Amino acid sequence: MILDLFAGPGGWSSALHVLGARDVGLEWDQWACKTRAAAGQLTIRTDVAMYPTWPVVGRTRGVIASPPCQAWSMAGKRLGLLDQPLVHAAVEDLAAGRDTRERILAACRDERSLLAAEPMRYLYALNTVGEPDWVVMEEVPDVLPLWKQYAVVLRRWGFSVWCGILNAADFGVPQTRRRAILLASRVRTAQPPTPTHAQLAEPDSLFGPGRARWVSMAEALGWGATDRPVPTVCAGGGPGGGPEPLPLGLPQGAVRCPGAGYLDAPGGPCGPAVPPRRTRMGGAARYP
Ligand SMILES: C[S@@+](CC[C@H](N)C(=O)[O-])C[C@H]1O[C@@H](n2cnc3c(N)ncnc32)[C@H](O)[C@@H]1O
Repeated sequence: MILDLFAGPGGWSSALHVLGARDVGLEWDQWACKTRAAAGQLTIRTDVAMYPTWPVVGRTRGVIASPPCQAWSMAGKRLGLLDQPLVHAAVEDLAAGRDTRERILAACRDERSLLAAEPMRYLYALNTVGEPDWVVMEEVPDVLPLWKQYAVVLRRWGFSVWCGILNAADFGVPQTRRRAILLASRVRTAQPPTPTHAQLAEPDSLFGPGRARWVSMAEALGWGATDRPVPTVCAGGGPGGGPEPLPLGLPQGAVRCPGAGYLDAPGGPCGPAVPPRRTRMGGAARYP
């Protein structure tokens, strides 16, 4: 089976579905679990830090992990940043079969910090039986030093490992999302995928076809308007998450989509054409 730690609503699971595979997700959030169930994904609703490793040992081919990384998060009070050395210490101990989590957790400023070390607890147990064949992990770019620590351990265990930063937009995703990625395999050489897209389209050359231009959100949604700033669609920002009331000064013609906050899409499906405007996040709309 493919084990997906911190499986969330199923981003990895959806990609696996495209590849004709499926995972078993470990996830504790009820809404993420319900979303997975509605999408036909398999889930064990549990705390990844409490779940024993014996049920997965002897039957795991691949491990996916996108752990929360409070110790690298720039949001909130950033207390977790002080915990980074403790997370590295926990990974080192778990990689040697020493479960020191309780003692290390007592010293952490943020009780969630050690979750980033959890994949190593599973990987250590699986490695005792020569599993898994492959591992993929993903997190915000600042987590790369932690992935490098995982890489050293996995190489010691016979894996080929690559880790680095990839941008989703370079692979045709309509989102400029950079992520620290770790790819490891016992059965083939780990290499990053070849980018298929670039910010500016590249011409074909002697060495093959050039990369296509990044896909814009407007293109992905099929809304047109791809030759100018993209439509701005925002989820509701009210306290309950629903649509907010229209602010004063919104351009004439701007519309509100039920459940989706504002939409001021030129030629969009919900309303008449209006001039592009600044996003509610503060900057000019200039993402792909
Ligand atoms: C960054 S999201 C993962 C997204 C997922 N990889 C995807 O592709 O959709 C992290 C997830 O970890 C879950 N989580 C956090 N702490 C957890 C814990 N102790 N046990 C299980 N799940 C946890 C959160 O509810 C959240 O859904």
